[in-house]
Amino acid sequence: MAIPTETVYGLAANALDINAVTRVFEVKNRPSFDPLIVHIADIKALDSLVLSTPEPLMKLAQQFWPGPLTLLLPKKTLVPDLVTSGSERVAIRIPNHPLTLALLQSLDFPLAAPSANPFGYISPTTAQHVQDQLGEAVPYILDGGPCQVGLESTIVGMEDNIPVVYRKGGLSVESIESLIGPVKVMAQSSSRPEAPGMLHSHYAPRKRLYLGDIDILLNNFQGNKLGILTFNHLVQQNETNYVLDLSPSGDLSEAARNLFGYLRTLDQQAVDFIIASKVPDHGLGKAINDRLTRAAFIA
Ligand code: TXA
Ligand code: MG
Repeated sequence: MAIPTETVYGLAANALDINAVTRVFEVKNRPSFDPLIVHIADIKALDSLVLSTPEPLMKLAQQFWPGPLTLLLPKKTLVPDLVTSGSERVAIRIPNHPLTLALLQSLDFPLAAPSANPFGYISPTTAQHVQDQLGEAVPYILDGGPCQVGLESTIVGMEDNIPVVYRKGGLSVESIESLIGPVKVMAQSSSRPEAPGMLHSHYAPRKRLYLGDIDILLNNFQGNKLGILTFNHLVQQNETNYVLDLSPSGDLSEAARNLFGYLRTLDQQAVDFIIASKVPDHGLGKAINDRLTRAAFIA
């Protein structure tokens, strides 16, 4: 079934049941080398799933759970290798959505849930997005309304006793550093990704998306029908331009909430290309820019 979270909708299965987890990989058309995040309702559930929780990560959990934070922790054998794609670490989080928390509390097993989109496409932030894309393949969608954060969780683990952010997301690096001090932030993409959410052409619309200065791009693409994604920047809508502003008031939280839905809407317009500009590179802006860069045809 699909479940709402504050970040994006997930496609959930009993994390301890290999057959159920296999179905998730099939429905998403997801390669088995891309591991799943395990969702729990209570920090106490960590005891049965992980061997230990390094202190900085425990601090983060206590401060930011439930919330858009995923921790990579050394797994116990109870967690199937399929869930972690053979890794010794399992990704775990407590999502912050009342329906899903109530669901998790009623179950005696955790839920493995990747984002409920076909592999490589934009993550869903409403129940309708899930229905549009996975439709028949998902027997049940729990409709919890539009996602309040709108970006996937921030993934944090330890390497050589140093906290590392593997995926920028709905919890800002600044919030993390204000609690545990400086962290290492992994680069945007790599050819052999440690976290496959780091794959380059991830979160991508089907139309080509060009990222840059909107006014220059507008000039370059004269004569084309364009979908335009701006941030706090006025562009005239006309017969050839379909314009969406992530946040007319310049609010990065609002922009994060709107990002994936707006990309979908632009992808569905009768336009030749999508053009977009980056947002200010601080707070949630870092994660927004990360997703835009990976959605871009030419980064
Ligand atoms: O906000 C979220 O995290 C959403 C909601 C549904 O919770 N889930 C989500 O899942 O974004 P997904 O599968 O689309 O992305 C999970 C990322 C993947 O890039 C995966 O590689 C990484 O987490 N990941 C999961 N388990 C891992 C592990 N054991 N080691 C390293 N990376 C892991
Ligand atoms: Mg995903």
